Amino acid sequence: MVAAASSEDAVQTPRHVAIIMDGNGRWARQRMWPRTLGHREGVEALRRAVDAAGELGLDYLTVFGFSTENWRRPKDEVNALFDLLRLYVDRDLKRLTDEGVRVRIIGEREGLSSDILDIIERAEARTAHNSRLHLTIAFNYGGQQEIARAARRLAEDAVAGKIKPEEISAAMFAGYLDTRGLPPPDIVIRTSGELRLSNFLLWQAAYSELVFLDVLWPDFDKAALEKAMSEFAQRGRRFGGVGGA
Ligand code: IPE
Ligand code: IPE
Ligand code: MG
Repeated sequence: MVAAASSEDAVQTPRHVAIIMDGNGRWARQRMWPRTLGHREGVEALRRAVDAAGELGLDYLTVFGFSTENWRRPKDEVNALFDLLRLYVDRDLKRLTDEGVRVRIIGEREGLSSDILDIIERAEARTAHNSRLHLTIAFNYGGQQEIARAARRLAEDAVAGKIKPEEISAAMFAGYLDTRGLPPPDIVIRTSGELRLSNFLLWQAAYSELVFLDVLWPDFDKAALEKAMSEFAQRGRRFGGVGGA
């Protein structure tokens, strides 16, 4: 029998929520609008998500903005997605800085244009002293590619004699990933009803609770984040052990 939760029971709250922001194209198509307008609304949803994450006391929010596979989309759409990163940083960097948000961008930097690299570096440098909320944007990110890059750097360090192959552990490996220093996500949310990770945080999500929401990303709001958090609160996390009785 399961005892009813008493007010003394600690509610399981996440520190780190990661989100696959999916469904912009379908949201636009439902309105017979071009997909790029869906992405534009998606930026508004990102703003709401960052505000809600702060209000709900999260320490870390990680969002998937552009995958290494998204280069397969039409060039106009790819350009629009890059424009939105520019727009988001231009419009929100001051506010994020003032509100204590630390911004990090993870993913492959090679091959990005110099103006995008400048924007990334500016956002990271301006907010480096902040720590109220850690906002990590996965941009030109693929989990497999991140793991391969980490393996390459480990191999380079081994060849250079800085580490011995037999010293390599999961903890050491994690220190070579783009996410070094961040705790693993407690929850990975995917909006739009798709049930897959699409190459997002493959290493880090080993024990994340997966929450799939039917809402399309441009409709995401604080209530949707609260819904995911209350679903998380019901989950029994065991990490391979046997958990509570
Ligand atoms: C998510 O929305 C945004 C990115 C992948 C950049 P989509 O553009 O994938 O929207 P759907 O899945 O086509 O509806
Ligand atoms: C994942 O969504 C990438 C981002 C949200 C940035 P996709 O829409 O690209 O994923 P698939 O193609 O449906 O797996
Ligand atoms: Mg999609």
